[in-house]
Amino acid sequence: MPILGASTSGVSKYNDAISEDDFCVACVEGCRAAGTMTLRGDTFFYTVGDNPALRSIEKAGGWGIPIFKPRAQDSLKALIERAEKVGCPAVGVDLDGCGSSNFARAGKPVYKKTIADMRELVGFTDLPFIFKGIMDADDAEACVEAGAAVVAVSNHGGRVLDGTPGVAETLPSIVERLGGRAAITADGGVRTGYDVLKLLALGATAVLIGRDVIRAAIGGGPKGVELQMARLGSVLKKGMLMTGCPDLASIDRDILA
Ligand SMILES: Cc1cc2nc3c(=O)[nH]c(=O)nc-3n(C[C@H](O)[C@H](O)[C@H](O)COP(=O)(O)O)c2cc1C
Repeated sequence: MPILGASTSGVSKYNDAISEDDFCVACVEGCRAAGTMTLRGDTFFYTVGDNPALRSIEKAGGWGIPIFKPRAQDSLKALIERAEKVGCPAVGVDLDGCGSSNFARAGKPVYKKTIADMRELVGFTDLPFIFKGIMDADDAEACVEAGAAVVAVSNHGGRVLDGTPGVAETLPSIVERLGGRAAITADGGVRTGYDVLKLLALGATAVLIGRDVIRAAIGGGPKGVELQMARLGSVLKKGMLMTGCPDLASIDRDILA
């Protein structure tokens, strides 16, 4: 199942439809029921001691991957230690989150990380490390140099800076540059299993779903997320059938021609 829930957070602040804990649990449990996993996000009201993302993953016995905002190094280390205790299989940082005004307003600064900072974080844990928010081959190279296991190609769903290139445009050059040295996820605007198939054909190892999982979680709780992910998986299979791909390994760029 090469489709995972994206790291999302702060949904309880948009309206009163769902609490932050219920939202995180819906994402974690719904993805688990569909045979996959979700990343979990980070926002300004999450702390080490009171963290809905880590709480939902802990409840599921470690079934989820936290992606932290690029907070101060010490804060990140405390969160990573907590993630290790919870039993998370990997951790990460969305490097593009350094522009978050929500964090700045809450007096919790986020930082543009240097390669030295990134290397320090990777070296701090034995868990595989994900750097998210990469849109450029040089930056992807820097992530690998810092020891990343996964490079998450993402423009944050295009919702932060209007006019950024699309992920499908930048993905091929990143795939080519990394040449298999790290796994690569891609996200942004993926709405159907056919969209998933296209990003896999462009070289992504796995694809992440943001807003459609949020909508499913608010509308249908864990069951809604399970149905959403299962639907994406079944349409992906249909696309594979129609393009003559018997397994994930046989999906390549030729099917797009
Ligand atoms: C409401 C909302 C909250 C988000 N919060 C986070 C976050 O905390 N951390 C993160 O890495 N990305 C966050 N993202 C970005 C998603 O991980 C992902 O990159 C994006 O939603 C993918 O595009 P899509 O929504 O079109 O599928 C958020 C996206 C949305 C819509």
